[in-house]
Amino acid sequence: MKVISTEYSQILAARIAREGGWDLVDVKFSRFPDGEHYLRTGVVDDEVVVVGSVVDSDSLVQLLLLIDACSGSSPVLLLPYMGYARQDKQFYPGEPLSARAVARALSSGVCRVFTVNIHDPGVLRHFTVPVENLSLAPEIGAYLGRSGYDDPLILAPDDGAVSFASMVAAAGNWDCDHLEKTRISGEEVRIEPKHLCADGRAVVIVDDIISTGSTLATAAGLLSAQGAKTVAAACVHGVFAGGAYARLIASGVEDVAASDTIEQACSVYSAATTVVSGIRGC
Ligand code: R5P
Repeated sequence: MKVISTEYSQILAARIAREGGWDLVDVKFSRFPDGEHYLRTGVVDDEVVVVGSVVDSDSLVQLLLLIDACSGSSPVLLLPYMGYARQDKQFYPGEPLSARAVARALSSGVCRVFTVNIHDPGVLRHFTVPVENLSLAPEIGAYLGRSGYDDPLILAPDDGAVSFASMVAAAGNWDCDHLEKTRISGEEVRIEPKHLCADGRAVVIVDDIISTGSTLATAAGLLSAQGAKTVAAACVHGVFAGGAYARLIASGVEDVAASDTIEQACSVYSAATTVVSGIRGC
């Protein structure tokens, strides 16, 4: 097996190759004078895993080119973070279903797809090849166990994250609860307390994505007002749009941790082990 990645997922790809005992392929990336992407691989008429998170439009184009370069071997595609997946409904006539457009484009030339904690599993139906969604909840649970939190309260910021938070909490048999969130706009959410008692507790808010950080910041403020001893956060995909990471730390969130599905300095747990098991099991 060979592992090959875009520039955006090279650290995760190297970890997957090491974990699986597979070869990591060197790729040369450059641009044409007009700014268009170019790449060249040494590849490959072998079994291949193509790894590439879609974190913006450039990363999508680079991933499409890489898949095309490998398409002769009908690779497996690992899509650690699928950008554009949150436009998964047509709210107004004339809008695209962006998740569908991206899923269809990325299905072309690959034999199957793995995603990681996709925001809405309903998006998976838009792929035109077999697809499996992997979960990093056990990895996050293991990380929290190593981090020495004292009997933490694991909290989902909304209904949608409840089963994810329960899986994280199961790692240490910790208490688990959730808040109720209403999204007012792209940058603003309202959060109301559920039946938890955060007073004096080390609270860890867990979520699939931290994007603008507004969900987390609003929840953290509420929990501090309720007497939480500390508030920390752990997510799968650390997008941190518009300076969200710094804003969260500045507002008193003790620690903000993410996985390497998006490669960030705070990527302190890896998707590699979960991915290798997923690929071996298929
Ligand atoms: C929403 O349902 C997701 O699980 C996340 O809570 C959301 O995407 C986080 O976005 P933001 O950081 O912009 O509040």
